[in-house]
Amino acid sequence: MQVAHSTETSAAAPYPFDIRRISDVAGAEIFGVDLKQPVSESLKEAIMRAFLEFHILVFRGQDLNKDEQHTFSKNFGELEHHVGRLPDGTPFPIVHTVTNLDADGNPTEKTVSKGNYHWHTDKSYHAIPSLMSMLHAKEVPANGGDTQFANTRMGYAALPDEMKARIADLQVEHSWEASRRNVGDAPPSEEQKRERPPVVHPLVRTHPDTGDKTIYLGHHTSHIHGVPKAESDALLEELTAHTTQEPFTYTHQWRPGDYTMWDNRCLLHRARPNYEVGKERRLLHRTVIIGTKPY
Ligand SMILES: [Fe+2]
Repeated sequence: MQVAHSTETSAAAPYPFDIRRISDVAGAEIFGVDLKQPVSESLKEAIMRAFLEFHILVFRGQDLNKDEQHTFSKNFGELEHHVGRLPDGTPFPIVHTVTNLDADGNPTEKTVSKGNYHWHTDKSYHAIPSLMSMLHAKEVPANGGDTQFANTRMGYAALPDEMKARIADLQVEHSWEASRRNVGDAPPSEEQKRERPPVVHPLVRTHPDTGDKTIYLGHHTSHIHGVPKAESDALLEELTAHTTQEPFTYTHQWRPGDYTMWDNRCLLHRARPNYEVGKERRLLHRTVIIGTKPY
């Protein structure tokens, strides 16, 4: 398939903060905003405008505790509770920790969910998936432990017309059960399956704020409806490989204090195990904003 570099240009309206594009694919870093402070309506509007333009915002040098992250996150919508459970069976708190540290605070490979290493868009196994995810880096390796993003708007735009026609009306089943099966994690409990029944989303999604078409898939997918399983698997694999090609990806190398916000409606993402997971410390705080039903 043909690939092409982005032809995006920056919006003409000035932003009330220092903002610099990080890559042609997605991402801008923002300086001079303290996210601990109350967010005015005009600042919120500017952040959302930048969010739609760049898809990933990286506020450098932040130091929020979990309560402060909760307060900041609520400016952008309703916070999502999490499906996963802590080792003692209790649900994750609404501001939860993503880490390779064990209960004693020591690095271990055991706590890392395999699913995070596979391309996905957050919570696509929900009827109403995530709009925005936020990760605040508290401790990160000096090198590696990156998060990689793929721009599914660019991926869709670069598809040949025949492929766009072929996938235009396809519907895809996503489920928590398939998500775990696809990455080799233990199957969910019967209770978890009842709580999270399969859902169906269009393979070609229209971004509700920009109108752009995107490819909506990832490792939470089970199969395409009305297509033989082998053909479904092959097509999902082909489209994933297409939209995660290097020209459509941006790799975020974390700095301590980074506070990121990204748009799950036009991006796939995955964590990279490119550090010594059993030796180096990596700890981030995460919040997720609920979106709208895909169409
Ligand atoms: Fe994720």
